[in-house]
Amino acid sequence: MRSSLHDASPRRYLMCPPAHFMVTYSINPWMDPAKPVDLPLAMTQWEDLRDRYRSLGHTVELLDPRPGLPDMVYAANGATVVDGRVLLARFAHPEREAEADAHRDWFVSAGWPEDRIHEPVHVNEGEGDFAVTSSYVLAGRGFRSSPLSHGEAQEFFGRPVVGLDLVDPRYYHLDTALSVLDDASDEVMYYPGAFSAGSRAVLARLFPNALIARERDAAAFGLNAVSDGRHVLLPQAAVGLFEPLRDRGYEPIGMDLGELLKGGGSVKCCTQELRE
Ligand code: ARG
Repeated sequence: MRSSLHDASPRRYLMCPPAHFMVTYSINPWMDPAKPVDLPLAMTQWEDLRDRYRSLGHTVELLDPRPGLPDMVYAANGATVVDGRVLLARFAHPEREAEADAHRDWFVSAGWPEDRIHEPVHVNEGEGDFAVTSSYVLAGRGFRSSPLSHGEAQEFFGRPVVGLDLVDPRYYHLDTALSVLDDASDEVMYYPGAFSAGSRAVLARLFPNALIARERDAAAFGLNAVSDGRHVLLPQAAVGLFEPLRDRGYEPIGMDLGELLKGGGSVKCCTQELRE
């Protein structure tokens, strides 16, 4: 039997148009500089995502793309905002380092009080590795964010941070393997194969009713999803997730971000949530 539909709540997102998107280096297994990218198509796919958020009643703020930073389109990686407090990113790879400044400049010019913006000491790749539920901040480590960034985030946000070990290089960021469906009731979906045995046990204990994704949906980037509590925007190729989401009272919305997948990102990577 299907559960009744969940309620959506209005969100504020930060996105960055893929004006300078390219795959010229490879810092994750999805990136192959030999594969051509269709830039106009990437832009159209990104615009569809932006317009979809707006048509669902959400606010989308725009970050100015900077030349020479082809991965800036993955705006989720630039910061994590919880209770209006901004933990800026510090990138693991030099190719992306300068993106953190672009994010800081955006928050400052958007009028964010400086005492609510934290320049990190330890490497963290923003919402790539931090996922926020009502009870916890879940935090990935193993490929990008330093385990030390978890303590730093806990101190800054004043919320319990639960560290999770990522073990499969294809799922190098937490947001490629786990997605928060309902941040009011702590409902998540994840792909167990991306996590160490200990972290799988932690997830099973914290989220006994989680939606468990299969390998082929994870490989289609199906966990790189954004939920407003009701609508779940996810890559359309993750076909196996649609029915289980509907059964739980969500409305899955399939998106095609095929060009951006060539950089190793999809819906969630392109979307940073500004939680006031
Ligand atoms: N090419 C980017 C990188 O490897 C993709 C980042 C995708 N973003 C994400 N939140 N997983 O850093």
